[in-house]
Amino acid sequence: MPDPLILGLESSCDDTAAALVRGREVLASVVMGQNALHAAFGGVVPEIAARAHAERLDLCVEQALDEARVGLADVDAIAVTAGPGLIGGVLSGVMVAKGLATGLRKPLVGVNHLAGHALTPRLTDGLEFPYLMLLVSGGHCQFLVVRSATEFRRLGGTIDDAPGEAFDKTARLLGLPQPGGPSVEAEALKGDEKRFRFPRPLLDRPGCDLSFSGLKTALMRQRDAITADKGGMTVQDRADLCAGFQAAVRDVLTEKTRRAIALYLEESPSQPALAVAGGVAANMALRAGLETVCAENGLAFTAPPLRLCTDNAAMIAYAGSELFARGETSGMDLSARPRWPL
Ligand code: KG4
Ligand code: ZN
Repeated sequence: MPDPLILGLESSCDDTAAALVRGREVLASVVMGQNALHAAFGGVVPEIAARAHAERLDLCVEQALDEARVGLADVDAIAVTAGPGLIGGVLSGVMVAKGLATGLRKPLVGVNHLAGHALTPRLTDGLEFPYLMLLVSGGHCQFLVVRSATEFRRLGGTIDDAPGEAFDKTARLLGLPQPGGPSVEAEALKGDEKRFRFPRPLLDRPGCDLSFSGLKTALMRQRDAITADKGGMTVQDRADLCAGFQAAVRDVLTEKTRRAIALYLEESPSQPALAVAGGVAANMALRAGLETVCAENGLAFTAPPLRLCTDNAAMIAYAGSELFARGETSGMDLSARPRWPL
């Protein structure tokens, strides 16, 4: 018996996506971003996002079916992000999924978006449970021990901004293009991380919680001091600010990962591993810090390819397939949930 063919839908933030996954094989993964729609507003506008999802989900499904060269009748189950996220978008996805499941008379599987991210290393690398996951994106930041497809132990997370959000705000404060992560990282390569002092928030406190909002305030203060002093910022000032900011994010995340690893190893994993996911996982300085701390503690380090690290529907289809295999399907009363902690 071949593995079941799962159609996955994702629409919880600003990416509309559909994918077809069979076992660990991604047959198609279509992602339609909305950056251009929200650019003028300086952030995702929920109403605009919801409308775009409603208009594009069917197109994504059609394109995914074409790419995978399969028909709707071949699909064995429909997996959909049922939260957490912007409620209008999540509702659009859930409604489309219910329509498909009813029309095709196929099972519906509601998936937690965070579980989708957390299970991706099993899709890409076949990681064995339990593994440690650091989820770092524009909206999320948490350490999880992934024990099974439905069991997650949260070790800590941000108490304010997510790191991607901090990168994006930093870019905005320095007049760099969005998304901020890649532009700040590019500037940081040319900068001196030691010239400006940035705090290392919460390092003096025990545990794995993080905080990033203070870094933005520190950056603003340093920028204003330079501007007041010299009447403007030079290219080098900006690069040095980016380098200092990024080093602070790297140091805090690396040190907190060290602590999370100690807690994780108490569970005596047979194949200890750390996986990162989320857009910020693309940051090379952060990766280098994480690789070092993994090597020191005997953990394998895994980072899924970026297209599967950022929001996509393949991760939802895959998580759906694990739930489906366990018989954990949803009824037609599946609700869209704006908040849904793991
Ligand atoms: O996972 P993602 O695509 O979307 C969600 O947040 O759900 O993550 C996007 C975030 C943005 O804040 C972006 O600035 C950040 O990931 N990012 C980076 C890098 N590339 C993207 N942050 C730091 N360094 C990067 N190279
Ligand atoms: Zn996400």
